[in-house]
Amino acid sequence: MKIYILDGGPRKDGNTAAMCESFARGAAEAGAESERVRLFDYSYTGCRSCFACKARGGPSYGRCGWRDGIYELLDSVAHADGVVFASPVYFGTITPQLHAFIERLFFPFVVYDKKYSVIAPKRPETAVIYTMNVKEPVLTKDYIGEANSGPLGFFERYVTRVYKRPERICAFNTYQFSDYGKFVADGWDEREKAEWRERELPRELREAFEAGKRMAEKIKKG
Ligand SMILES: Cc1cc2nc3c(=O)[nH]c(=O)nc-3n(C[C@H](O)[C@H](O)[C@H](O)COP(=O)(O)O)c2cc1C
Repeated sequence: MKIYILDGGPRKDGNTAAMCESFARGAAEAGAESERVRLFDYSYTGCRSCFACKARGGPSYGRCGWRDGIYELLDSVAHADGVVFASPVYFGTITPQLHAFIERLFFPFVVYDKKYSVIAPKRPETAVIYTMNVKEPVLTKDYIGEANSGPLGFFERYVTRVYKRPERICAFNTYQFSDYGKFVADGWDEREKAEWRERELPRELREAFEAGKRMAEKIKKG
């Protein structure tokens, strides 16, 4: 049982990292090995549109043929039992690093036939982890959107086409800096944020832990 937790955030010790670690602890409790991959540690680009992955009879058919820093990693993730897509929300959606990784992972799996058939070697369990400044109503209305029409809604629809439907785990109203006094950020009420962090963050981390456990249990059941 192997779960890859793809962390698309730049901060080693930020909110997204904390949620990923909690998810990993939950998965471990239920017997799954997981690996958190910090995408910012890798050197790569998004899809180069070389189409090696779709070349008839080609050696890279169905997998990304572009040899940069994630060439091997893509193969490992493609054979995982579970994949977690984690990101701080930037401009209403996932970070460019996570987006670029998904282009490279998913595009080779989608065949340019009439049905857009999917030829991924496995169909793993999935989860998405988002952390963000806003609270749930903005996520639901603007980022997920009605009938999944928002940027994150579209992203989750795509994950569901290729893999299994993701479970969504979120941390809202997050702390961006340890001392709000040092930054021009008067739009945020630090006291309210501090209260939220004390009251809600432990629950959000627990939800990530439970989601990790659930994913491992689902993998075990097959
Ligand atoms: C470039 C940038 C863009 C952001 N855009 C949004 C946004 O559109 N909506 C939002 O709620 N938060 C936004 N945020 C806030 C982060 O999503 C939030 O602080 C997140 O929890 C940071 O995660 P981290 O601690 O793992 O870095 C943005 C932050 C940055 C740096």
